[in-house]
Parts: sequence; C-alpha cells; structure tokens
Amino acid sequence: MNSAKAKMSVKIVEVGPRDGLQNEPTPVSVEDRLALIERLVAAGLRHIEVGAFVSPTWVPQMAGSDELLRRLPHHEGVHYSALVPNLRGLEAALAAGCREVAVFVAATESFSQRNQNCGIEDSLARARAVATEAQRSGLAVRGYVSCVLGCPFEGPVAPGRTAELTARLLAAGCHEVSLGDTLGAGTPASTAGLLRACLQRAPAECLAGHFHDTYGMAIANIAAALALGLRCFDSAIAGLGGCPYAPGATGNVATEDLVYLLDGMGHDSGVSLPRLAAAAEHIGPRLGRPNASRVGQALARRVACA
Ligand code: HMG
Ligand code: MG
Repeated sequence: MNSAKAKMSVKIVEVGPRDGLQNEPTPVSVEDRLALIERLVAAGLRHIEVGAFVSPTWVPQMAGSDELLRRLPHHEGVHYSALVPNLRGLEAALAAGCREVAVFVAATESFSQRNQNCGIEDSLARARAVATEAQRSGLAVRGYVSCVLGCPFEGPVAPGRTAELTARLLAAGCHEVSLGDTLGAGTPASTAGLLRACLQRAPAECLAGHFHDTYGMAIANIAAALALGLRCFDSAIAGLGGCPYAPGATGNVATEDLVYLLDGMGHDSGVSLPRLAAAAEHIGPRLGRPNASRVGQALARRVACA
C-alpha cells in the first residue's frame, strides 16, 4: 500500500501591491510597484491583486493603477486583479486591460460608510452592477466582505451577517468571496464560528480567508480555516497592509509566514521562500520599514532550520 499522502494544493492571493501599499504614508512609484510584482511572480505567486480603481482623493496610493496594469508583462498562468468600487472603476479597469476585478462590501454600516461613503445595501447594489458588467466583458469577479471578525466602530459582528452577504455576493456572480478580518481581531475560535456559518451558505471552494495580523492570530486563524476545508488565503509580502478606514489595524498575514506554514504542513503553494525574501528585500527599503514577517526576519538573518 502506498502510504505517501498526496500534497494538497492551496491557492495564495498576494494582495501586497494593493492592500499592502494602500495605507503607506509615502506613495510607491509605478516603477517600484512593477518591480515588486515581477519579483512576486518570480517567487511563484500566480494570483496577484495589483491595484485599485478607487477615488484618488480617497486613496492616493493607488493612483497609477491604470498605467501599472498596462505595463505589466504577460506571464502564462499569472492572474492580475484589481479592486473596483463602482462602474466608473470598472470602466477604467477595462480600459487598462484588467481581466479580473474584486468588488467589496462591509459587514457593518459604520465601516461601509467610512470605506465607501454609502450603506451596505447601496454598496451591494454597486457590487452587483460591477459584477454583471464585468461578466458581460468576460472578466472574473471576486468578492470581499470586510469586518467579518469585528468592526473598529461597532465591535463584534454576528457570523450570520457575513454568511448572508457572502451568499449574496456569490449570487451576484462572484466566483469566490474573501472573508476580511480587517481589524485583525479574530481568534481560531471566532474564525471557526464564522466559517461554520458561511459553510452553511457556500461551499469551501468558494471561500477565502483574508486575515490582518493586528493581534498576531492570523496564522492560527489560517490553520483553523484549513481544518474546516478552506484552500485559498490572501497575504501580503513582508506583512504589509492595512485599510485607511480601519484605524489601529495592522498589515495582512505575511506571505512568507503563510508559505512557511503551508510548507511545514506538507501543502503545496508553489511559492519559493528564498525568492519571497528577495521580493521583501526589494520593497522594504523603499518604504523605510523593517519586514513585519517573523519568517521574513529569520530568512534575512539566514537562520537555518535543519
Ligand atoms: P464618493 O465620494 O461617494 O463618490 O466615493 P462620488 O461618486 O460622489 O464621487 C466623488 C469623486 O470621486 C468624484 O470626483 C468622482 O469622479 C470620483 P470629483 O468630481 O470630486 O473630482 N470617483 C472616482 N474616481 C476614480 N475612480 C473611481 C471613482 N468613483 C468616483 N472608481 C468611492 C465613493 C467608492 C469612489 C470612494 O469611497 C472610494 O474610492 N472608496 C474606496 C476606499 C478604499 O479603497 N478602501 C480600501 C480598500 S477596501 C479594503 O482594504 C478591505 C479589504 O482589504 C478586505 C479587508 O481587509 O477587510 C478589501
Ligand atoms: Mg485588507
């Protein structure tokens, strides 16, 4: 009998160029963003959210996403996506040659107002309009729900609320919904409670985890989500990121930490840790900040684990 266990494949959506850079005090040039994305592709990442077609008044860091998309080199099997809040954003994304977009809603009214200047129902209506038009143009559409494990303004969020919004985004045409712990306040227990509610409304293959790491629980939350069948996670190189409208929240789970976890569990992410380290070494000095990833720091110190 062959006792070798087949490697399980886990999809990583690298959100560093978008979520990672949208909150940086100094905007990063299109040139540097292109160079970062090239290094992320070289590391083996195949799904990269590269920018956002949002208002430059609201998020100036994402200005130039159109130029960026136009200049991105084609690589077989690499999918570039961009965040789009409304039809105006979709129009700009299409004109720039974008083939995959992400729409977003929040689980609480307060966050929705601050992030998108409208209530949840209005933002769902916008997301539905974007999804319909995007699909008509042959684009893939991803959905996000924010504040699924806590809201900076309203506190705890009932899992059923996120499950309902997830079902509505899938019905609108999203192929996958990423569950955003925007605040980074979740724990493995609250993550499991949320996922059990969502799994009653959607299959595991349509769900992704998007964990910010404010309380240092993101990796533990991902382990809990893996145990419940999720196979797709968002992460950002060097643990960059944060939403300008979620005060106090820190970056996403670091891609280095996620890949180290998956490698250690015998799962296949297709991503090379040494090459990720090279990508982090490129962007760190441009932002003037140290790598927030524990694994990234160990790699930089060449800490060997035999
Ligand atoms: P608004 O002010 O209500 O929109 O903003 P408006 O229609 O009244 O337009 C106001 C101005 O914005 C106008 O310009 C429009 O032309 C312009 P003006 O006439 O004043 O010069 N405008 C646009 N410009 C460029 N692209 C567009 C666009 N739409 C309008 N698409 C809006 C509404 C949604 C646009 C605004 O609130 C916005 O851009 N919000 C985005 C905020 C954002 O990007 N947040 C961070 C991303 S979400 C996130 O990080 C969470 C996530 O990571 C998951 C998680 O962690 O939970 C995904
Ligand atoms: Mg985020």
